[in-house]
Amino acid sequence: MRIGIYGGSFDPFHNGHLAMIRSALKSGIVDCVITVPSVCNSFKRYTSILPAPYRYYMVRDCIDTLGIKNVYTSDVEFGIEGVSYTVLTLKALTEPGYIKAFLEGNGVKSKKASEDHKFYWLMGSDTLATFETWYKPGEILDMATLLVAARPGDDTDIEVCSRSIRKNLGGDIEVFRLDGVECSSSGIVRDDRFDMCPEPVLDFIKTHDLYSENTRLEGISDEAKKQFFDYSVLMYKYLGEKRLLHTLNVGILSAHLAEVFGADKDKALIAGAIHDCAKELDIDEQRRLAREYSGDVFTDKKLLHSPGGATFARDKMGIEDKEILDAVCYHTTGRGNMSVLEKIVYLADKIEPSRTYTDLTDIRIAAESDLDQAMRMTVSSVRDKFIKQGRDIHPMTLDLMRDLGM
Ligand SMILES: [Fe+2]
Ligand SMILES: [Fe+2]
Repeated sequence: MRIGIYGGSFDPFHNGHLAMIRSALKSGIVDCVITVPSVCNSFKRYTSILPAPYRYYMVRDCIDTLGIKNVYTSDVEFGIEGVSYTVLTLKALTEPGYIKAFLEGNGVKSKKASEDHKFYWLMGSDTLATFETWYKPGEILDMATLLVAARPGDDTDIEVCSRSIRKNLGGDIEVFRLDGVECSSSGIVRDDRFDMCPEPVLDFIKTHDLYSENTRLEGISDEAKKQFFDYSVLMYKYLGEKRLLHTLNVGILSAHLAEVFGADKDKALIAGAIHDCAKELDIDEQRRLAREYSGDVFTDKKLLHSPGGATFARDKMGIEDKEILDAVCYHTTGRGNMSVLEKIVYLADKIEPSRTYTDLTDIRIAAESDLDQAMRMTVSSVRDKFIKQGRDIHPMTLDLMRDLGM
């Protein structure tokens, strides 16, 4: 098969990206296109707005929902250590074992998936001029033909650039005409032009409340943002889509609540973002990790991931900060004398934007001004649920209720 590979930040994925994919397919040069959302792009390291899992699922869900034939999304960069340079992405993706399994997993017949494939790296004409400065461009050309979209309005002389690349590095370059809208992700965010995004992307953005004023991580330190991005990639290995996006949402909302209630925003972001990191581990593993953090305080299966998560965060992420670890440990039960940070994570867990288990409007409004009131409303709905299900309320939750005057 002739396979086009389209890497990018997709922050957000927009109609210009779709035009690129559709035009490449229409050109007849490639049989299919694999989109590869960047995990740790060499040019935009840690500068994207959203960590990789959001962008990966945004693209994948959009392409699936639109049902565009012969277009697939790869998470191959999640497996690359450090900066995911194009040359490394290509190496991983073109590896015969990987590409065959990937194509079969996307419904391509085994015989076709096992063919000797020819790979094309998709790029806009504007980036062609910089290609020779990329990391190991010669090796890139050994693995793939450059497939250049002639963008209307871009005055790059494709002929001149191609000649120089061929002369200095060898390799093949092909050009196709780009039909459709021109837009940029940064422009869309800056000018609030989300109408340039396809419907499924808009739904995704709305569900997770992304790119809004409260969720842009302003005022977060570079170090915390870097940790947030790195942990999100690490957790991708351990959590499914829904839970991973939930736990990241809790991080972003916690950072916002920390701003409102004067807590440490960096710590809130991290504690919230990792609070469910252990939730999909084997239950015996959760029990072992839980015991390590807090002995036999937690025995209920549904609670083990909280103290277990604290141990996991310490061992796998190297987090030593006790305030962060405790916020993770007590996010399900709460406890007496909770810190503001602990309350924030507890609350954000129950009301992050993708939560729909009940009408949360009133609690969300309260959470913008009165932390304890929002806590009371949340704990009381938890208590009602427990009573309905005939479950005992944990003694630590009773301590929390007492503190809140319930
Ligand atoms: Fe949890
Ligand atoms: Fe949670």
